[in-house]
Amino acid sequence: MRTHGCCRRSDGLRMAESGHRSRALFLLRKVCYTVAEAPRMARFLQCENCPAAQAGPILIMRTVTVVKTIPLSQTGVEVSALAMGSTNFGSKCSEAQSFALLDQYFEAGGTFLDTANNYSHWAPGCQGGEAEMVIGHWLQKRSNRAQIFLATKAGFDSGDVDRGLRAEQIEGECEKSLRRLGVETIDLYYAHKDDPTTPLEETLTAFDRLVKAGKVRFVGASNYLAWRLAEAKAVSDAHSLVSYCCIQQRFTYLRPKPGASFGPQLAANDDLLQYVQAKDMTMLAYTPLLHGAYTRQDRELPEQYQNEDGSVRLRTLQAVANELGATANQVVYAWMLQQTPAILPILGVSTSEQLTENLAGLEITLRADQLQRLNEASA
Ligand SMILES: NC(=O)c1ccc[n+]([C@@H]2O[C@H](COP(=O)([O-])OP(=O)(O)OC[C@H]3O[C@@H](n4cnc5c(N)ncnc54)[C@H](OP(=O)(O)O)[C@@H]3O)[C@@H](O)[C@H]2O)c1
Repeated sequence: MRTHGCCRRSDGLRMAESGHRSRALFLLRKVCYTVAEAPRMARFLQCENCPAAQAGPILIMRTVTVVKTIPLSQTGVEVSALAMGSTNFGSKCSEAQSFALLDQYFEAGGTFLDTANNYSHWAPGCQGGEAEMVIGHWLQKRSNRAQIFLATKAGFDSGDVDRGLRAEQIEGECEKSLRRLGVETIDLYYAHKDDPTTPLEETLTAFDRLVKAGKVRFVGASNYLAWRLAEAKAVSDAHSLVSYCCIQQRFTYLRPKPGASFGPQLAANDDLLQYVQAKDMTMLAYTPLLHGAYTRQDRELPEQYQNEDGSVRLRTLQAVANELGATANQVVYAWMLQQTPAILPILGVSTSEQLTENLAGLEITLRADQLQRLNEASA
């Protein structure tokens, strides 16, 4: 679908269509789609502001929500089944490019944004905090804070920020994130990385204070081992403190070789998968597409996944993708979402084409036999 360059897509007016879960998107004045490209026409309107529209009628598109919602663990809150990651925002992608990606995700119904206080300090010219600032500007420009479920994190080091989850680190970084994001409350605040040197009670007490102060709604963990999550839960219960409601871990369809290391990042292992199943806890998967290695010639499969098990699973994945006329990336998302409980992938994209492809993965339903073959594929 193509829009005229003079328009900003998200200035459109969103309206929930009564009686339908899918959302109707009526784009008034600012956005013009060409008639020929529009699969679902709602009606025509004259556009006042768009010069390209002076010549004739403007199609007002109705887009069907492709990003559905799923429950976030036991919180009682429904979140988008695909979160929008942000490591590229304000670094690889300029603010304008990031806005376009955020708009495209939002227009597809996506409302769950994932960022962190340190994104993306490793990118050239960046020091950390750039992604939060881009998201903050976007929320302000689009006036849509109330519709967004906003997650950020603290605990990794960047610039003059030390790694760790001491109380003053959590509370200090929270204030900085709130400022950069330009919001009063963070919906989901993660411990980005376990800190075995700080007592869990201190960390959870700090998170609890933030919740009681209304600065944070829910807390989550990232890069935690299953036994540490269980320990944290026991500490929360014993001291009546807020507890981690979900876990964000490195996870994809391929399984890392035994003992494979990702540096400070932790891949989900069998212990964690069993833990989240037993607790009906939502796991969010980062790096689900291995940075594009499933489909791209220019991206080598990371060494940690190069073994016979990986080859068998790659062949199975491609076979299922061929049957569905889909891409391997799309099948990875679909496979995650059809686990029990659903595993929620986090998007990472730097172009609109990538986002279009990945969003289409949400419309795939794997047949029971395909799901079984994918689940059971093993060397
Ligand atoms: N909690 C943590 O410790 C942690 C760690 C890492 C990430 N995260 C979060 O998870 C999010 C996603 O992680 P990730 O970026 O590593 O995910 P990913 O999906 O594995 O990788 C994203 C990259 O893959 C490429 N790509 C994506 N879709 C593609 C497509 N359809 N065709 C071709 N290439 C495609 C793009 O690379 P190019 O841009 O190079 O084209 C894109 O930037 C991050 O943004 C962040 O919010 C959290």
